[in-house]
Amino acid sequence: MNKNKENKMKILVTGGAGFIGSAVIRHIIKNTSDSVVNVDVLTYAGNLESLREVDSNERYAFEQVDICNRVDLDRIFSEHKPDAVMHLAAESHVDRSIDGAAPFVETNIVGTYTLLEATRAYWNALDEDKKQAFRFHHISTDEVYGDLEGTDDLFTETTSYEPSSPYSASKASSDHLVRAWLRTYGLPTIVTNCSNNYGPYHFPEKLIPLMILNALDGKPLPVYGDGMQIRDWLFVEDHARALYKVVTEGIVGETYNIGGHNEKANIEVVKTICALLEDLVPNKPEGVSHYEDLITYVTDRPGHDVRYAIDASKIERELGWTPEETFESGIRKTVEWYLNNKEWWSRVIDGSYAGERLGVK
Ligand SMILES: NC(=O)c1ccc[n+]([C@@H]2O[C@H](COP(=O)([O-])OP(=O)(O)OC[C@H]3O[C@@H](n4cnc5c(N)ncnc54)[C@H](O)[C@@H]3O)[C@@H](O)[C@H]2O)c1
Repeated sequence: MNKNKENKMKILVTGGAGFIGSAVIRHIIKNTSDSVVNVDVLTYAGNLESLREVDSNERYAFEQVDICNRVDLDRIFSEHKPDAVMHLAAESHVDRSIDGAAPFVETNIVGTYTLLEATRAYWNALDEDKKQAFRFHHISTDEVYGDLEGTDDLFTETTSYEPSSPYSASKASSDHLVRAWLRTYGLPTIVTNCSNNYGPYHFPEKLIPLMILNALDGKPLPVYGDGMQIRDWLFVEDHARALYKVVTEGIVGETYNIGGHNEKANIEVVKTICALLEDLVPNKPEGVSHYEDLITYVTDRPGHDVRYAIDASKIERELGWTPEETFESGIRKTVEWYLNNKEWWSRVIDGSYAGERLGVK
């Protein structure tokens, strides 16, 4: 799009109440003059309290809508007239996809298809300049590539797809749909595939917040298998900056891998969190002498990928993006954020963040 700085955009962000989507919206509202329409149905993973810092801004609007609902999407496109779509809405938790794949197929595949069709109908009716400038940016995962065996290999943008879980298979399908909508209909799409994110406002079912909160509560720290699964950790605010760069400066039809250059085994991540807590919260729960003593190895997840690692040199070279946080600085910020934001996570844990809508704990 090569956005001229004077040119304010309106960006339709799907899944903006989720972990990464809310970081993207906070980034756009705080650091640019663009507007955002957040389209989110608010599943258990959607939390509007993650947007408190920006939700009173006049450049922010919220639509509680399911991306599988074509009628609602058509209304949103015609009312808000966005210049770009950043598509993050998804079912995103691998363990949940193993327990029940249906919502993953529905949202990640059917929802992406429905959004592509609604976008295409809107885009087709734009005038030529707006049509040229329009972008559909699909946010995907490095899990579509399967896992790596050798210690030196990295996922590049041309690595073939070999998804292992229902989650990654549904994301792989959505990536194929997005590319087909460019090839077949000319819709100006861009795809990004990123590694594991971590940082503030992360739902406590995911590894890093789960470990921090369990440790503070003196509960076991469950580590799958031998804990030697390697992930490439990306600080969520670095990712949000990268995504904004891609939607404003990325080239149509390209794929960009986004990673943090931070390959760590899960057990190393858990031990780092324990060490930080020894330093930051020396007053431990009753009966706990060392946080590390809470580590408990549990039966491995079926189909668990061994190693993911991203080669992010293309986005660095072509768009000039690099991560600002090392794992050491980012994990310290994350632990400190959880220590300072008990109200946010205790309302997630007791279910009150969801109001009446979920009827869950
Ligand atoms: N978290 C990671 O480490 C990671 C890594 C790589 C890629 N991704 C991808 O990034 C995107 C965002 O991930 P996240 O961690 O923020 O996810 P998340 O689960 O925290 O948030 C997903 C959001 O989408 C919304 N949503 C779900 N179904 C919807 C539907 N049918 N209609 C409208 N909204 C719906 C939810 O309410 C929630 O707010 C996903 O597409 C995910 O596949 C995430």
